[in-house]
Amino acid sequence: MAHPLPRSVTIHPAARLQGRIRVPGDKSISHRALMLSAIAIGESRIEGLLEGEDVLATAAAMRAMGATISRGDDAIWRVHGVGVGGLLQPATALDMGNSGTSTRLLMGLVASHPITVTFTGDASLSGRPMNRVIAPLGLMGADITASPGGRLPLMVRGLCPAIPITYTLPVASAQVKSAVLLAGLNAPGITRVVEPVATRDHSERMLAGFGAQLTVEQSETGRVISIEGEANLKPQSITVPGDPSSAAFWMVAATIVPGSDVVIENVGLNATRAGLVTALRLMGADIEEQDARTVGGEPVADLRVRHATLRGIDVPHDLAPSMIDEYPALFVAASFAQGRTIARGADELRVKESDRIAVMLAALTANGVSCEEHEDGLTITGTGGEPIAGGATIASNLDHRIAMSMVVAGLHAQKAITIDDASPIATSFPNFFDLLQTLGGDATWG
Ligand code: S3P
Repeated sequence: MAHPLPRSVTIHPAARLQGRIRVPGDKSISHRALMLSAIAIGESRIEGLLEGEDVLATAAAMRAMGATISRGDDAIWRVHGVGVGGLLQPATALDMGNSGTSTRLLMGLVASHPITVTFTGDASLSGRPMNRVIAPLGLMGADITASPGGRLPLMVRGLCPAIPITYTLPVASAQVKSAVLLAGLNAPGITRVVEPVATRDHSERMLAGFGAQLTVEQSETGRVISIEGEANLKPQSITVPGDPSSAAFWMVAATIVPGSDVVIENVGLNATRAGLVTALRLMGADIEEQDARTVGGEPVADLRVRHATLRGIDVPHDLAPSMIDEYPALFVAASFAQGRTIARGADELRVKESDRIAVMLAALTANGVSCEEHEDGLTITGTGGEPIAGGATIASNLDHRIAMSMVVAGLHAQKAITIDDASPIATSFPNFFDLLQTLGGDATWG
């Protein structure tokens, strides 16, 4: 995928943040909305789709495999699907850019179709582990040839009919769960995934919404999701709620910058995603839920967040799956808390778009924050609310969430913080800097 040139940005300390903002559509839900619409028969409509690079990579891939996808001037996306089993052989390799979700979920879809697809990606995605999906999809009969270490570029030769399996997840991963369920859609019989630890459940909700025969039961070994194959999906009208992982940066920003009072509208609060709200409240954050409602089958509210002095906590390990993408933002919040925050039990952070433990350790330490590294997280001693020293340039490492977290840190620092390359933010949050300006923040481009 064409990616904008690297652009450095310098963040100036903010007096206070004020105003109302609306974050873009949920990334996880947007990917799934496009994929399922593309394999339903007939026209689906998607409102509020995240128009970030990752989701556009999914749209391009579904087009390359036969779906007709267009965006109207009304910002509604219309998708004509090809039906389960109807995906076509793409003419070229699929370039997934920076997007792990597109890659792993699409590997699942392709695995049970009689097509052969090569997946490529940028340097970050090409370093990420794919054996976690290669293993179960191999059991279902797909023939996958990967680069050394189970990395991209890789080629999936699907098998049709595929073999339905029962698979217990060895890592808590919604992407692996979803890959197996999507492969199961076109396998004869029942495919089961057992997840010992519950992860985000957007795939289950949306598959059921499209008419798949899917059940969820709780067993002694965990949550068991069963899907009946050779499914017939019916087109849907979907409204995508705002992304809690994007709202996270503004929750932390409004909390740490003295005098702030911010309303973030339309934030998805699915319990499998809302761990950061719980953690910040345990630290003493002032987050008020207004106008709680349901959007697109997901719980949503407007969040009013006011500045508060935080105290350090031992972050409960069982929150990890529901805030796995929010640790970089949490590390920033902890940098301003009174005392020590111990955030462990999150070893998956090592294999995200970057090694988020090592990269945040380097970025925060360079800006005067006291951090200690663990294999599975960080212990951070905060300032008690005073600005951090700042003054350093940090490397975003092709990771949108590192870049956005360090923008937030820069809003309450003695000296400006520079991010070497803010362009990865376009993968998930194209209007991030517009919202910063709306709230009164100040950034200068290098
Ligand atoms: C996602 C699942 C999570 C998350 C990622 C999106 C999804 O990844 O970190 O940003 O949409 O299923 P893992 O499945 O690797 O935990």
